[in-house]
Amino acid sequence: MRNLKGKTAIITGSGRKGGIGEAIAKMLAKRGCNVVITDIGKATGKNFGKSHIGSTSEMQSIVRAIKKDKGNAIAVPCDVRKSKDVQALVKKAVKKFGKLDIIVNNAGVGYIMEPFEEFKEASWDAVLDVNLKGAFLCSQAAAQQMIKQGKGGNIVNIASQAAKSGFPFAAAYTASKHGMVGLTRSNAIELGEHKIRVNAVCPNHITTGLGHWQNKFFSDKLGLEYDDYLQGIKDRNPLKRTGMVEDIAKAVCFLVSDEASYITGEAMNVSGGEEYH
Ligand SMILES: NC(=O)c1ccc[n+]([C@@H]2O[C@H](COP(=O)([O-])OP(=O)(O)OC[C@H]3O[C@@H](n4cnc5c(N)ncnc54)[C@H](O)[C@@H]3O)[C@@H](O)[C@H]2O)c1
Repeated sequence: MRNLKGKTAIITGSGRKGGIGEAIAKMLAKRGCNVVITDIGKATGKNFGKSHIGSTSEMQSIVRAIKKDKGNAIAVPCDVRKSKDVQALVKKAVKKFGKLDIIVNNAGVGYIMEPFEEFKEASWDAVLDVNLKGAFLCSQAAAQQMIKQGKGGNIVNIASQAAKSGFPFAAAYTASKHGMVGLTRSNAIELGEHKIRVNAVCPNHITTGLGHWQNKFFSDKLGLEYDDYLQGIKDRNPLKRTGMVEDIAKAVCFLVSDEASYITGEAMNVSGGEEYH
């Protein structure tokens, strides 16, 4: 994967410590990419509270850690729901590093869970706006830049096991992640002629900040102790463990490298064998 050296990569939702985005950014930087850490940066409204989002100071601290490890990184706040923000994000990445080669659509909301018969319209919009519209806006802005450059590129959508299977209380999340796979396949067909490959990665459970919230939510619903619930997830998994953020980062590094040069439109499970279609 030496061919990643000198590439520019934007990773959305990468400003939260312990998250999948942070791990992807750090691994891409380690392999020679110039990385753009981007996240919403500040809490806004009831669905985007402090305890769920990557703050500006967290983003900056991730940048410092990458630089300390001899990598190249900048932090750019961006709300992926807003096309103006997204356009400015791509512009800043290109201004700083000269081009854009990779975008990873990782920003996501997975903590708005309601029984379907009570699912609020505002909750539905909040989830779909980040997970699906955000991926659309970012993919489009990145593709426009990559087409202009004329040298191809890579788009990776961080979907989920919920892109392949249904989950209770998660109608919006599951619909958004299935939608991301549809977006992946459609974009792969349209962008192939520009040598832009588009793939999705579908993780199962990983105990990030979001994963921890989901464990609490589902263990409470099932009346189980947190640790017993988590052990149940491990027991059901063929590899007898949950995923790690590095498992996803490795898959992304592979997909954006030349090792994967004939792979596009794929929705790759990284689930320890738990999800297989
Ligand atoms: N943790 C898991 O078990 C798991 C499993 C499957 C898929 N995923 C997906 O992986 C991705 C990363 O999740 P994570 O577990 O690292 O959680 P996380 O909460 O650490 O990361 C999500 C990030 O998205 C950011 N974000 C939310 N709204 C945004 C907006 N409007 N604009 C920009 N950024 C925004 C958040 O601030 C946060 O930093 C998500 O898309 C999630 O759905 C996670």
